[in-house]
Amino acid sequence: MARKPNIKKIAVFTSGGDAPGMNAAIRAVTRTGIYYGLEVMGILRGFEGMVDGNFVQLHANSVSNIIQRGGTILKSARSERFRTKEGRKKAFDNISAHKVDAIVAIGGDGTFRGALEFTTEYDISCIGIPGTIDNDLYGTDSTIGYDTAINTAIDAIDKIRDTANSHDRLFFIEVMGRDAGFIALRCGIAGGAEAILVPEKKTDIDDLITVLEKGWRKNKTSSIVVVAEGDETGGAIEIAKKVKAKFDNYDTRVTILGHLQRGGNPTTMDRVLASTLGVYAVEALLDGKSGLMIGMVNKELCFTPFEKASKHHGEMDKNLLRISKLLAS
Ligand code: F6P
Repeated sequence: MARKPNIKKIAVFTSGGDAPGMNAAIRAVTRTGIYYGLEVMGILRGFEGMVDGNFVQLHANSVSNIIQRGGTILKSARSERFRTKEGRKKAFDNISAHKVDAIVAIGGDGTFRGALEFTTEYDISCIGIPGTIDNDLYGTDSTIGYDTAINTAIDAIDKIRDTANSHDRLFFIEVMGRDAGFIALRCGIAGGAEAILVPEKKTDIDDLITVLEKGWRKNKTSSIVVVAEGDETGGAIEIAKKVKAKFDNYDTRVTILGHLQRGGNPTTMDRVLASTLGVYAVEALLDGKSGLMIGMVNKELCFTPFEKASKHHGEMDKNLLRISKLLAS
């Protein structure tokens, strides 16, 4: 039963880019809250809904049959109004009007920056659950949605490889990741890419051409280069142009995988991670914790202050970077 009697009502919301597994997290938060005798509310469209007062009551059966569904039943948004003091004041007024004692925020770095400002300005407890396909948060080995996204992307890359081989083409495939190359790195290795371009490492077009030329001399008739959308050289279209201007041996194509990486049924990994973090998030609130993102590091529960979680994303695995180069050579 409830360990901290002053929390009677909690609210849960999803914010920022949707990620597969968010529904599993909403379900876990709702069911855990009810298990501990709390009232649970959902806030529609993240911070935007908090400003507008879009609150709905959640019951155990409100979250039935959603664990396997992508997207978020609570909907999501990127709220400009919440960035203003007036917006946050309205949001807090709505939280108070609904007698909500604590909130669970499911989202990425922007969500936790918002939550940090909100909890600094107002007396409200908040625990964050990492939900973003980008995996760019410090304090968790994996974010909810990342495993599903890389599996979706690799499926697409495998299919593109069929065409690359059949037509002897060079494909530049752009994957998501505005500030981070985690999706690109994993998919590049798993997809047998010639090169992987990530925002964390400056792209040298001449180096890239050297790699492609080497492959060409070894009679490689097709090649795949995986590019993270956040690569500072300008994404797959720009890089393909630059390469083509100096090295035109291949028939070249560009594919941008885009938002198809954000949808679809979550993998088992994402469902289990979301369920675990959902339960622990509510228990953390009941233990009196606040201002923290909850994550799993080396299979251990880990709490990271919002500021750290959102500002410093985990480091790229240097070993994986080395492996990707070695195997492409
Ligand atoms: O934050 C996740 C993410 O998918 C990024 O990889 C991408 O840059 C961004 O969201 C796209 O956001 P939107 O759907 O708002 O265009």
